[in-house]
Amino acid sequence: MGAVIYPVIDVEFEQPACPTRHAWARVPPEPSPVDRAALKDRIRQLLKARNSVMVSHYYVHPDLQDLAEETGGIVSDSLEMARFGRDHAAQTLIVSGVRFMGETAKILSPEKRVLMPDLDATCSLDLGCPNEEFSAFCDAHPDRTVVVYANTSAAVKARADWLVTSSCALDIVRALKDKGHRILWAPDKHLGAYIQRETGADMVLWQGSCIVHDEFKAFELEALKKEHPRAKVLVHPESPAEVVALADAVGSTSAILKAAHELDAPEFIVATDSGMMHKLRALNPGKTFIEAPTAGNSATCKSCAHCPWMAMNSLACVAHVLETGVNEVHVDPALSLRARVPIDRMLAFTAALKAGRPAGALVPRIGAA
Ligand code: 13P
Ligand code: SF4
Repeated sequence: MGAVIYPVIDVEFEQPACPTRHAWARVPPEPSPVDRAALKDRIRQLLKARNSVMVSHYYVHPDLQDLAEETGGIVSDSLEMARFGRDHAAQTLIVSGVRFMGETAKILSPEKRVLMPDLDATCSLDLGCPNEEFSAFCDAHPDRTVVVYANTSAAVKARADWLVTSSCALDIVRALKDKGHRILWAPDKHLGAYIQRETGADMVLWQGSCIVHDEFKAFELEALKKEHPRAKVLVHPESPAEVVALADAVGSTSAILKAAHELDAPEFIVATDSGMMHKLRALNPGKTFIEAPTAGNSATCKSCAHCPWMAMNSLACVAHVLETGVNEVHVDPALSLRARVPIDRMLAFTAALKAGRPAGALVPRIGAA
């Protein structure tokens, strides 16, 4: 199979620290049913032949989610993707998601080959937090503990004390606050403000945002709630505060799945990327899932919330990288060593939490040697 060439769309975004107002994304076409079946077969064979495993995010195409699970890989949130990639024995990881996910996998497993369906699949949070400007922000607040969201470049991670994802940010910031830390947070302003409200921690926030979750609108969501009075509302904390305020459950992609399973309701309104609907519907066949209303500016489809960069991952690209070994993720080894420190802290903290051990003991008291 030759190189895969797709049409490109313009993606508008405004991020205070980013001089450009535009990015771009490739749009893979849907394969025909015959091509789709052939591509899946080919990928199954190649995964075995190349000692490879698929690590997919909940927002990528349903085919890439199902194929990952069916072939012994994983579909998960960004935290579990990192852990799974690090712990799996396969020599090659096929990371379907966006660039920071492939970089995190490579940082955690420098000896493995990490391939991505499309290396240009980026994230507005990563784009909106350039390393130079971020370093200047850190320099301006030397007394603060730097807590960085996973959706960032390796260079930004290398400057951080702690890494967090949306599934562990609350626990880690709460533990830091309990030990006297004042926090510098980057890059998502909505997630940062949510953590600040919930923990009462002293935080200064970088003003980045996710172009997908920033689109959700509270006024329209309230109207939709009235139309569906028995529905519970599930919200990813990258959404604006007014939308979070209407939620019955707020959390990471995994937390949203858990809440949909545990909450006793026939209907759910979901404020996160529409890629989540696949798993939500598959795991909860008796329940109805409705997409939360957006401002209608999505680059991928006018009335839905779908990340244009997650949408760049396709079956054809996965087959192509497995065939040819192209699209390998590289991270400078020295940078990688530094970026690994905050990632390892996060993984140790969350492993302790999961095992019921006192995770707070892993956080040093401020001022302690
Ligand atoms: P999760 O950590 O919840 O999987 O989210 C990653 C992401 O990019 C959300 O937009
Ligand atoms: Fe980034 Fe938002 Fe896309 Fe997640 S959904 S990868 S935060 S742009």
